[in-house]
Amino acid sequence: MPQLVFATSNAHKTEEVAAILGEAWQVEDLRAHPGVLLDEETGDTFEANAIIKAVSGSRGTPGLLVLADDSGLEVDALGGAPGVRSARYAGETADAADNRAKLKTELAKLGQPTPFSGRFQCCMVLARDGKVLHITHGSVEGRLLTEEVGACGFGYDALFIPDGFTETFGVLPAETKNQLSHRARALAEMKDQLASLT
Ligand code: IMP
Repeated sequence: MPQLVFATSNAHKTEEVAAILGEAWQVEDLRAHPGVLLDEETGDTFEANAIIKAVSGSRGTPGLLVLADDSGLEVDALGGAPGVRSARYAGETADAADNRAKLKTELAKLGQPTPFSGRFQCCMVLARDGKVLHITHGSVEGRLLTEEVGACGFGYDALFIPDGFTETFGVLPAETKNQLSHRARALAEMKDQLASLT
């Protein structure tokens, strides 16, 4: 089975990528490569930050195929925030609960109308030995709630209802999220490229 290093320490993201790619790939993340340090995410787009992670991650794992994802939530009524700052919305040391609390506060300040339109965005970059091989994008449109519903998933999942559904990603089964998420769509675009490299 070919090996793919996913340049993250976010176990939730890795679980999703491994489930979406299935048996065809042995997916491991930076927990298996603790010496690899990713460069700081200084970009102001998802693509720029995904390139930073893929290039720095692949320099640290010579010869291996490295996939990186940069992703986040955009809320139209907040001018696209939290966007590329999704992981640090409530501050540099914020955790997911802090970020959700900050988002709920910002949405509550806006008042009506609720729910608010928005989307998850994902850019995936494939690299080897510091060179970018392929870049894909995926998104899923939906609505933001001002109160959390459900305990599945991670990050902002409990606040987001994808279009066409009535429940949040915090309630929908992982199998459903993994068929329509921003990450699933970016990976679907990446699959042919991955297949051509095996
Ligand atoms: P990154 O690790 O710099 O790409 O930050 C991604 C951040 O966006 C995460 O920490 C979450 O807050 C948010 N995010 C990305 N994808 C998802 C998702 O599928 N569900 C919920 N939150 C997500």
